[in-house]
Amino acid sequence: MRISPIIKNNIYFHANYRKVKNPNDDSFYMMTTTYFFRADTDWDYLGDYLCEKYKDTDKVNVICHACSHGAEPYSFLMHMAAFHPLEFNKFTPVVAKDIDAENIEMAKKSEYEYEDIAESGALDYFTTGLYKYFMQPLDNGDMKMTKKFRDAVKFDQGNIFDDISSMPRKNTVLFCKNMWPYLSVEERHRLAKELSEHFDESCVLIIGSYDTSQLEMQELLEQYGFKQNPNDMFIYEKRKAGCPYNVYHDQKAIKEAGKDIPLSIDDIFK
Ligand SMILES: C[S@@+](CC[C@H](N)C(=O)[O-])C[C@H]1O[C@@H](n2cnc3c(N)ncnc32)[C@H](O)[C@@H]1O
Repeated sequence: MRISPIIKNNIYFHANYRKVKNPNDDSFYMMTTTYFFRADTDWDYLGDYLCEKYKDTDKVNVICHACSHGAEPYSFLMHMAAFHPLEFNKFTPVVAKDIDAENIEMAKKSEYEYEDIAESGALDYFTTGLYKYFMQPLDNGDMKMTKKFRDAVKFDQGNIFDDISSMPRKNTVLFCKNMWPYLSVEERHRLAKELSEHFDESCVLIIGSYDTSQLEMQELLEQYGFKQNPNDMFIYEKRKAGCPYNVYHDQKAIKEAGKDIPLSIDDIFK
C-alpha cells in the first residue's frame, strides 16, 4: 500500500483526504474517508447485539483497527454511553489503531470540526443536550472529546498484521471496517486466515460497506470460518463448521423485553 501525504482535511470527505494507490490497479485511487456514526453500521442493532451476546461476560475487548482519525471508536462509545450506560465500562478501554501515523496524531488530539460532527448522527446529541458528556466546544468553534471519552480510547499507530498475535483470543470485538480494499489479494486472504485462526467463537468481526462494495467479502470471510450475522451483513462471528448462528440477538425481542430502555447516562459519570 502507498499513501500520499494528507492533501487536506475536508469536511465533505469527513476525514484526512489522501490518495491511496490500489495495490492491484495502478490507476485506481481511494481516500481515507471516515465520519461519525458512519451509516454502514446499524449502531442501534450493534449495541443491542453486543450487550446481549456478552451479557454473561465481565470484560469485552473492543479493538478498532484502521480507525482513521478516531470517529469510529468515539461513535461506538457515544452510542454505548447513551443507550447502554450501565454496560459502558465493560467495553472500555477501546484499543484504536491505524497504520497511518498522521491519522493517529489527529485521533490523539480528538478535536473535530463542528460541521464534521453536526452533519452526522451526533447531531441528535446536541438536540438532546447529551453532547456535553461527549464533547466540549473550543474557542475556535471546533469540538474536543471530553476527557472521559479520550481516556476510554487508547490510540496507537500500527499495522494490523503486526497486531493480530497480541489481540485477546476470546471476547474480542474487532472493527476492521472499510480497509480491506487497501490490501492486495494475498494480504486479504492472509488477514482473513490469521484472524480466523487466532480468534475463538466468542469473537466478532465488523466490516463496512466500502469493503462489500469493492470485494466479495462474504465469500472471503466464510471460506476461513467466519459466519455472517443473518440480521446484519456487516457483522461476522467465528463459527465451527455446521454450527448455526444463534438468534439470541433478535432486536424486537430485546426491545419487548424492555432491555433497550435508555438508562440515565449520569450512571456512568458518577
Ligand atoms: C477508508 S478508512 C476507514 C476508516 C474507518 N474504519 C471507517 O470505516 O470509517 C481506511 C483506513 O485504513 C487504514 N489502513 C490501511 N491499511 C492498514 C493496515 N494494514 N493496518 C491498519 N490500518 C490500515 C488507512 O490508513 C485508513 O485510515
